[in-house]
Formats: sequence, structure tokens, C-alpha cells
Amino acid sequence: MLKGIDQAASPRVLLCVCGGIAVYKAVETMRLLQKAGCEVRVASTEGALRFVGKATWEGLTHTKLASDIFDYTESAIPHIDLAGWADVVLVMPATANVMAKMACGLADDLVTATLLAVPATTPLVVAPAMNVHMWKAAATQANVSTLRERGMRFVMPVSGRLACDDVGEGKLAPIDDITDAVLGCVGTVASGDGDVSMSGLRVLVTAGPTHEAIDPVRYIANASSGKMGYAIASECARRGAEVTLVSGPVSLPAPAGVTRVDVVSAADMRDASVAAFADADVAICAAAVADYTPAHPADHKLKKGRECLDLIELIETSDILAELSATKDAGGKHRLVVGFAAETNDLADNARAKLERKGCDLIVANDVSRADSGFGSDTNRVTFVFADGVEELPTLSKEEVAVRLLDRIVAMRQG
Ligand code: PMT
Repeated sequence: MLKGIDQAASPRVLLCVCGGIAVYKAVETMRLLQKAGCEVRVASTEGALRFVGKATWEGLTHTKLASDIFDYTESAIPHIDLAGWADVVLVMPATANVMAKMACGLADDLVTATLLAVPATTPLVVAPAMNVHMWKAAATQANVSTLRERGMRFVMPVSGRLACDDVGEGKLAPIDDITDAVLGCVGTVASGDGDVSMSGLRVLVTAGPTHEAIDPVRYIANASSGKMGYAIASECARRGAEVTLVSGPVSLPAPAGVTRVDVVSAADMRDASVAAFADADVAICAAAVADYTPAHPADHKLKKGRECLDLIELIETSDILAELSATKDAGGKHRLVVGFAAETNDLADNARAKLERKGCDLIVANDVSRADSGFGSDTNRVTFVFADGVEELPTLSKEEVAVRLLDRIVAMRQG
């Protein structure tokens, strides 16, 4: 077990709210967590109380709101007791001010003192929201990096119209994503097997197909369902990793505790993957990315008979796996990069050639000639191909393939 919690009891979430306009969304998030079976307690800064008052929090949690370090009737030492009580801590909306204090270890009110007192083994989820310039400020970005390096999970803000009417990054992430991130931690805590072998790691997973537009209604695609990549993302989250899942168009729901970035084309997938890789420790490229894309997609629906559909000029897409592999040792940090290879024959030989050509650390060679393996199936038949050997696996569920693969990756990272 990750920590000594009673498996029969409800998971305990401490919600630390800070003074930003998005506090009202914390109320809805708290309700979602309660509906999911969590017991929630709330600690509020004085600033946050100006946006949402004590009566709302106490009415909905049926417990005292904690906001004053010297005046909390539930405990004589509120910051220590609250920090120790929680199975998971959520800071939402995390302001620039509170994140700066967290990064420096300042503890000048109940919320910051509590955050400093959270044991290192307790997952801490941070969901920032603020003005775009405050978010992009070098000081804020440095504090976010520091906190992420210490193992805190971030549900990053998104772009949109902000309260100040500026448009840009800084808008609180969707509350479903924040709830999923917390429940993902709860899953880790409450699953009972205590597998935190990927805790503190940031993992990029690509999954699904890409769609390459011919015109606004026609595209080139493939039969990837996303099942393999989603199983990997889910297993990474279960083991405590912070996961960014860059997903092509599929009909699967986002796994709990995973940040999903939806993309359509190979070019979109490349941009989202390169951005996520900047902060990652491991990249696993399970997507079936188109190798070619139409050179000149039409801006209107091509008319059968009248416009040319029998000759579509194609150009090569960027090779994402090769690009990530080429930068995996940049900045003195060794990142592990894993690719897949969909093969119909000479599995290991073709995969070894891809390993060398693309420069990754491991290729999962996928036998796509069989009905029970590869695109769309629930099971998969794969062989791990390393620079110095191979490991052939029997036909397994995609979930079990993910387990075996991540066991390997964890072992490789340990040297
Ligand atoms: O999604 P499912 O239905 O569960 O199916 C799973 C799967 C068969 C899609 C998956 O297991 C798989 O094998 N994924 C890789 C499929 C593929 O495109 O193979 P490839 O041999 O063409 O590419 C090799 C590697 O390069 C892959 O890691 C791919 O993500 C990557 N690549 C390919 C082209 C490109 N432009 N950029 C890339 O990064």
C-alpha cells in the first residue's frame, strides 16, 4: 500500500482553494469528487473566501471549513492534522502567489502551512488558473517546473477567454480533467497493490490513428482504435506517473488520471508530442501515424466527376518517433523513448532496422498479420526488440501487454 489508509473507507481528498475567480469551479469539482465516493475537506485562503464563502463549503461538506491556522475547532494543530488526514491533496485554483510560496516553502497562512506539511508520499495535484501574463511570467514558469520536479502533478491551464477578457493560456483546465487526475491518484492509493513504480515520472503516450485531410469531408486514415495506447496510458497513471496522452481521433474515453490532448493530423500530433516531450521522462509512441499526407488539401468538398480525385499528390509527414529520439539526451537529461512497429513479416528483423533508423531505446514489434493482434483487436502479439536482444511475448490482452512493457521500462530506467 502507498500509505496506511483503510481500504474500506472513502478516499479522503483535501481541497485547498486559493483566491482566484475560478474558485466557483472548485465547488463543482468538490461535488464531482463526492459523487465519486470521496470524502472532501476544504481549506481556504482568506482571498478565496472573498469569492466563495464559508457557508457554501460547510453546507456541502458537512464539516468545518479550515481557513485560520489559530481558529479551527476540529483540531488544535489544523495544518498538521489536515495534511496527515488526506489521501490526496488538490490545490485549485492554484494562484501564482500560492505556487510561489509552495516553491519557496513559505507557510504564512493555513493553506500554505498545510501544503508544506503534506507527507512526501501523499499525491498532490495542482490546477493553476490566472491571467495569461501572470501564467507566462518567468517566475511562475520556474515555480511550476520546481514543483513538477518535486513530483507534484499539474493539470495544466488551457487557452481561452479569461476573466480579464484577455485571450490566452491561463484558464482553469476542465473540471472533469481535474477530477480525473485526483481520482487517478485515489486509484493508485486505493488499488491496494501499492504500485508506485512510476511515481514522479512524466510520460508522453501517443495513441490512435491520424486523419490526413483530402478535402473538408474526406481523409486518409487507418484502423487504429487507440486501445493499445490507452491501455499504456492507463497503466502508467495507475503506477503513479503524470501522463500526457496525445490521441488521434478515437471513440475511447480518456483513462482516469490522464491528461488527454486531442489531435487530428500527423502534423498536429507532431506538435503536441514535441511540446509534451519537453517535460517528459519517457515517451511511448503507440500511435499509427500516417506516413504521407495530401500535399494540397482542398478547402471545399471536391465534386465527383468535375474535380480531380484520382490523383492526390502525397508528401511525407514528419517522423515523430525519430524526432523525439534525436533530442532524448538534450539538456543533460536521458529520456527513454519507445516506439511500436506494425509488421506483417520478419517481425524482429524489421523492428531492429526501425530501432536503428529511428534511434529509440526499444521497439515493440507488433504482429499485425493475425486477427487477434494489432489494429482494433482486444489482444496483441508483440516482441520487445532492444539493441542487444529480443523478448517474445505470447498473445495477451492489450492491458497485459501494457503491464509487461511498463515493467520493462521501469527496469530499464533503473539501469
Ligand atoms: O490502436 P489499436 O487498434 O489498439 O492498435 C494498436 C497498433 C497496432 C496501432 C499499435 O500497437 C502499433 O503497432 N502502433 C504503431 C503502428 C505504426 O504506425 O507502425 P509503423 O511501423 O508505421 O511506425 C513505427 C513507429 O514510428 C511507431 O511508433 C509510430 O508511432 C512512429 N511513427 C510513424 C510514422 C510517423 N510519421 N511518425 C511516427 O512517430
